Amino acid sequence: MNVIICADAKAVGKEAYKVVRDRIVNGHAKVLGLPTGSSPIPLYKEMAAGYKRGEIDFSDVHTFNLDEYLGLPVEHPQSYRNFMNTNLFDHINLKEENINFLNGMTDDIAGECASYEEKMEELGGIKLQIVGIGRDGHIGFNEPGTPLYGRTGCVTLDTPTIEDNKRFFASAAEVPRWALSMGVGTILDTNEVLMVADGPNKADAIAGMLEGPITGMNTASALQLHPNVTVVIDEAAAAKLTRKAYYKKTSTNNVADMLAYLTAARKKTGLE
Ligand code: GLP
Repeated sequence: MNVIICADAKAVGKEAYKVVRDRIVNGHAKVLGLPTGSSPIPLYKEMAAGYKRGEIDFSDVHTFNLDEYLGLPVEHPQSYRNFMNTNLFDHINLKEENINFLNGMTDDIAGECASYEEKMEELGGIKLQIVGIGRDGHIGFNEPGTPLYGRTGCVTLDTPTIEDNKRFFASAAEVPRWALSMGVGTILDTNEVLMVADGPNKADAIAGMLEGPITGMNTASALQLHPNVTVVIDEAAAAKLTRKAYYKKTSTNNVADMLAYLTAARKKTGLE
C-alpha cells in the first residue's frame, strides 16, 4: 500500500484530490466509488473547487456510493444520499442519471443489492473506490466480524458505529440499526482504492489495517490483499504506525529516480 502522511485533514483532502483528478482527467476512472462521513469532506471540497476552476469534468463520470441507511428516505437530512447532494453532487456537473445509490427504502433488499452489483458490472466495474474508515476498522458499513469476501447486502450496525453516528441524529435510538452496504469483496474487486482518514480516534484502526493481521475484526485490513491502494492520512491518524519512515520512502518513489539509479548502476558495471 502507498501510505501518504499529511499534516492535517485539509492537507489530506488536497493530496487525495490529486489522485482523483489524475485518474479522472486521464480517463482511468470514469466509474467512481464514493464514501460518506466527515473524512471525505475536505476531498469533496477540493473536487468541487477543482470543478469550478475547470480542472476536472464529471459529465461522463458514473458514481456508486458505498452504503445507505436502511429505512431513511432520500429526503431525510441524515440519509447518505442527502449528505452526498449537500457535500458534493450539488457542486459539480455529475449527471443525475449517472449517480447510483442503494435505496434504503426498498421492499426487496436482496434484489436491490443484486442489481447494484449488476449495474457496476455493466459499467465495467469501479475504477477508483474512495473509502473512509470507522474507528473499529470498518469500511463501508462492514463491521468487525463481517465476511471479507462479502458482496453488497444488508448489514447490522454495531454499537460503536451507532454511538459515533448519533451526533447527527436526535439520539442514539434514532440511528438506523441496519444499512445496505457494498461488501468487502465488492470493494476488493475495484481497480484501485483511495482511503482518506484523519484524527486521533482513527489511529488504532489505521495501525490495525496497515500493520496488523488480515482479519474480519478490522475489515479494512482486507485491503492488504488489494494490489493498488493509496492511504492518505494525517499525522494524528498515523500516530500508532511503526513504519512511517518506510512509508515515506515508498510514497516519494518516482520513476525518474529509479532511471537515474539504473544509469549510475550501468556505468558502474561498465555497461554504459
Ligand atoms: C460510516 C460510513 C463509513 C465511514 C465511517 C467513518 O460508518 N458508513 O463509510 O468511513 O462512517 O466516518 P467518519 O469519516 O465521519 O469518521
